[in-house]
Amino acid sequence: MQIIQHYPLKRLNTFGLNAFAERFCEVKSVEELAAAALPPPGSLHILGGGSNILLTADLPGLVIKNNIGGINIFEEDDDSAIVAAGGGVGWHELVLWSLHKNLGGLENLSLIPGSVGAAPIQNIGAYGVELKDVFHQLDAFELATGNMVSFDAQSCRFGYRDSVFKNECSGKYCITKVFLKLSKHHQLRLEYGDIRRTLEEMNIADPTIQDVSKAVIHIRQSKLPDPEAIGNAGSFFKNPEIMEGQLLDLQKKFPGMVHYPTPTGTWKIPAGWLIEQAGWKGKRFGDAGCHTRQALVLVNYGNARGAEILDLARRIQESVVAMFGIHLSPEVNIWGTEGVKMP
Ligand code: EPU
Repeated sequence: MQIIQHYPLKRLNTFGLNAFAERFCEVKSVEELAAAALPPPGSLHILGGGSNILLTADLPGLVIKNNIGGINIFEEDDDSAIVAAGGGVGWHELVLWSLHKNLGGLENLSLIPGSVGAAPIQNIGAYGVELKDVFHQLDAFELATGNMVSFDAQSCRFGYRDSVFKNECSGKYCITKVFLKLSKHHQLRLEYGDIRRTLEEMNIADPTIQDVSKAVIHIRQSKLPDPEAIGNAGSFFKNPEIMEGQLLDLQKKFPGMVHYPTPTGTWKIPAGWLIEQAGWKGKRFGDAGCHTRQALVLVNYGNARGAEILDLARRIQESVVAMFGIHLSPEVNIWGTEGVKMP
């Protein structure tokens, strides 16, 4: 393990933003992580796949890239298997591994960029499934003490794109291993409209988990920009939830407002719809833009700076508040100059 000074992070964040780490190293085991992180070096960032961060400036202190690998079946019975994967494994690599072993549960989460260790932090989700639906346990390295700690589902306090690791435990742990409970008796989740339609278009009447994965990959590739081609970090904002009274008021002015019920009686409004109505879809300012096919995705067409993307995000936030009275919270983590925060 080697610590490198002034390391370029451009290839390590899917926005493709140009920023440097003051010091940088990659770790492949808990032992290497302990050697790099102890004693705590002051400013420390743990980097996974870099697919959910906006770098607004060079990062002071140490950046550790979690490359802890390995996937194996930890235990199994006739119905299910507990699969253990290192925090540095690519998320989609784990999905492909599970499909190869014919273990169900991850097929709707195909092709999500990022690493296994980052997946619990924001409880990744897509097409009607969230990580919490298959989550069993995780192991984490406590950065202040070097102790290994296990978290079960309850102690992770998963919410919509949220967990304890985005709140009280933010910046305090490096997730080294994740255990998922996958099923041998497949229960397909096809309720998300686009999946059924895509399977029909593929002429598949009796789909397998592998077919569902193919459908999800097809939908994602048709809607979401490939970070290899156009820098982005997926959805920039979370979909906001509003109370029924506010929905009824807004529907008087905006009868076409897309809305979905939530289990708690509130209504979820797609942020992409709000941003499109506010006129931002496809807009471009220099190399910072709002994607042409999915307004919720902000993009770097080449040489945008993180600060320009952040400025665009703030302007979108302000105009959505002005038009609908709805505040959009970022889903992406903003790293950079101290004090750069986005409510
Ligand atoms: N819509 C528009 N205009 C747009 C985009 C969306 O009107 O430009 C409306 C459409 O009515 C569409 C609805 O929004 O039917 C929902 O759009 P979509 O199915 O694309 O999903 P989303 O709510 O925009 C969420 C997740 C995505 C996930 C998809 C599919 C969040 C913040 N985003 O997006 O996750 O892939 O559902 O499940 O919850 C991510 O987190 O990075 C991500 C891409």
